[in-house]
Amino acid sequence: MIDVHSHIIPGIDDGARDMEMALDMARQTAAAGVTHLVCTPHMHWGTFDNTIEMIEQGYRDLVAAVKAEGINLELLWAGEIRINEMVPAWFKQDKLPYLGQYKGKKVMLLEMPHSNMPAGLDQLFRWLLSAGVQPLVPHPERNRDIWKRPEKIQWLRNQGCLLQVTAGAFIGRFGDHVQEIAESMLNNNQIDVVASDTHDIKRRPNDMAEAFEVVSKLAGADKAEQLFRTTPGIITGVIEAP
Ligand SMILES: [Fe+2]
Repeated sequence: MIDVHSHIIPGIDDGARDMEMALDMARQTAAAGVTHLVCTPHMHWGTFDNTIEMIEQGYRDLVAAVKAEGINLELLWAGEIRINEMVPAWFKQDKLPYLGQYKGKKVMLLEMPHSNMPAGLDQLFRWLLSAGVQPLVPHPERNRDIWKRPEKIQWLRNQGCLLQVTAGAFIGRFGDHVQEIAESMLNNNQIDVVASDTHDIKRRPNDMAEAFEVVSKLAGADKAEQLFRTTPGIITGVIEAP
């Protein structure tokens, strides 16, 4: 499987605290059947002020450590960008990283606040799409505005966003309600990618293996293959686009 969302680079966000913890996460991720993992540290203005230079340095150190330990896991890097008013300026200054490409556009993992969907989202998405950027919005199933107004999921899709559901949502890690939303999104073909968003090995481990089984049972093996391997593989360039 190809996992496009993780907080495994040590010491730069709320994921791995040190290299030892990062290596434990890498082992667990590989054991879950993930072959390629994208490191996506938070780029959250005022909370985690990571730059592409900081992420790339952390990535290089992690790759060396994973190799030295003989862990069979390919690493890539990007970032999880929290929506804020600086995004257009950062984009123009080329300060934002991308997961890869999809249908001719550069794919950005672009996170909404967990509490709400900020005003002006439609303008931001339109602006980004016209500039050649494809927003991939992670974990809409955990957004509280969406809990109140689930029709906003389809609204996001109508704005042109791709949607990424968290693997743990399918196994009840975030409670029954989040699980129901994830299942409903699956039934309604509203998911483009499933990813782990792993932060540690206990509270937020890599749930890709279990989630793959659940999604296979609910929607069939072909659908699971598409959400856990093919589409994330095409985005990251690990799999050649058809
Ligand atoms: Fe994340």
